[in-house]
Amino acid sequence: MQHIIETHNRVKEFDWQFSYVDKPQRYPTKYKIPARTKDPFRHLIRDYCSMEQEKDDRQYGAMSDVMARAGLPGKASQRWMEIMKLVLPVTGFGEYSAIKSTGQLVDAVDNAELRQGYMAQMIDEIRHTNQVAHLTRYLAKHAQDPEGFSNGIALRSKSIQCRAGRAALQGFFAGDPIEGAVNLQAVVETAFTNPLFVAMTEVAASNGDQATPTVFLSIQSDESRHMANGYATLAAVVSEPDNLPMLQKDFDRAFWRQHNFFDPLLSAVYDYFQEQRTSSYLEKWTEWVDHDWAGAYIRKLEPFGLQIPRWFEEARDRMFWVGHTAAMVVYAGWPMMFWRHDPLTARDFDWFEKKYPGWYGHFGKWWEDFAAMSDPSSGMIPLMAMENLPPLCRVCHMPGVFPRPDIATMRVRLIDGKKHAFCSDACEHIFREEPQRYLGSPTLFEEFDGMDLADFVEQNGFLRADGKTLIGQPHLNMKRMWTINDIRALHYEIKDPLHKLPVQEVA
Ligand code: BEZ
Ligand code: FE
Ligand code: FE
Repeated sequence: MQHIIETHNRVKEFDWQFSYVDKPQRYPTKYKIPARTKDPFRHLIRDYCSMEQEKDDRQYGAMSDVMARAGLPGKASQRWMEIMKLVLPVTGFGEYSAIKSTGQLVDAVDNAELRQGYMAQMIDEIRHTNQVAHLTRYLAKHAQDPEGFSNGIALRSKSIQCRAGRAALQGFFAGDPIEGAVNLQAVVETAFTNPLFVAMTEVAASNGDQATPTVFLSIQSDESRHMANGYATLAAVVSEPDNLPMLQKDFDRAFWRQHNFFDPLLSAVYDYFQEQRTSSYLEKWTEWVDHDWAGAYIRKLEPFGLQIPRWFEEARDRMFWVGHTAAMVVYAGWPMMFWRHDPLTARDFDWFEKKYPGWYGHFGKWWEDFAAMSDPSSGMIPLMAMENLPPLCRVCHMPGVFPRPDIATMRVRLIDGKKHAFCSDACEHIFREEPQRYLGSPTLFEEFDGMDLADFVEQNGFLRADGKTLIGQPHLNMKRMWTINDIRALHYEIKDPLHKLPVQEVA
């Protein structure tokens, strides 16, 4: 084992300057990084390779053997398995973005200690990308309803949720490489991988899904090392006083962008798609993000000048409602989704009212109406009951209905002769800092404005292998599924609401 430690030290010494060529810096950073700092990887190098190999052997071996033979995926809660069809393509994009981020850091940060940690993380993220792809393939083979697992990656570019995910997760690598590290390591891995990977494991296992915990626990076991990379990076950056003002801005923006995607999504996923109920997402968030991350981890950096992110309090205030609003958007748009949606039961209603007092008053009626529209014979989809679709935010691509439709903070502005919707004050502020970063991606409603819903479904691949039944359904009954003819009969046109909405002047 001693030779591994020696090799690790020797590799750090190889960090030479070329004499025969100017070192190309492909991803320049505006931050100054000291040439030598703490080595976040030093204590782990001894066991790294054998540990990772052991994890892969256990995970792939268990999945292909025991679980498939026992037919476990087919016995899991159908309500739960359906939403994994969304979770996996989003997570896969996150893992892939994490490879890009750490690759850029290896190039940008001239510090051998930090670079060792980034290199090992990059290998981990490649491993995770493969693991998520493997789990997707496994579920496409063994789940009761494989549609949506087999084609989720192809469909994600036409999905509201996946496009919002892409907008947030691109923060790992679009922009300054250290800004990427702040998004990936200091915010997402440290604040959100517990709610993402640990909670996913708990909820999946409670709902009879044994494959997901096997993979996600294996992924999460690498994340503490990635959090250490984040901490070492932040510590290196704050050690240069010139860096602080830039860092605070990048940190503020990173927290808002990641919160504004992950929290509505994860609370809708857990609270609305679990059948055997565990704690609420609000409870998980309060423990992991509020207490552990903001209250302990970030507070430790305050003596160095780094403050709690600018929009943290606002995020906390919005947490009570964002998941319910997000779930409503997901279920309302069911023909445009690639999974099935189980209507809520009386037992669910009781749980929501207990965990989120006041829930029924705002949402109960909507869910009763949803259940009444779930059979194709109703000839109604929830979108038809809405006067307008909500506009999508120019920055985060989330619908302008948060925190709750009746108190939405969405606003429409006219900027350089073009209308833009922003979901919140924070997203508008972020846009005005660097508009060019957000102008290149049309929203889903801009892209498909004026298209009949049936054409959207048919032309974008949202039909099952039979060529006529929708992948997305508003219930779990495989015998009463909606077909393309049912949707065509509705004559529903997708309309970008931005055309009609009035511009609000800046106060
Ligand atoms: C990660 O492995 O670090 C990661 C993957 C997906 C989403 C967020 C983080
Ligand atoms: Fe990862
Ligand atoms: Fe990671």
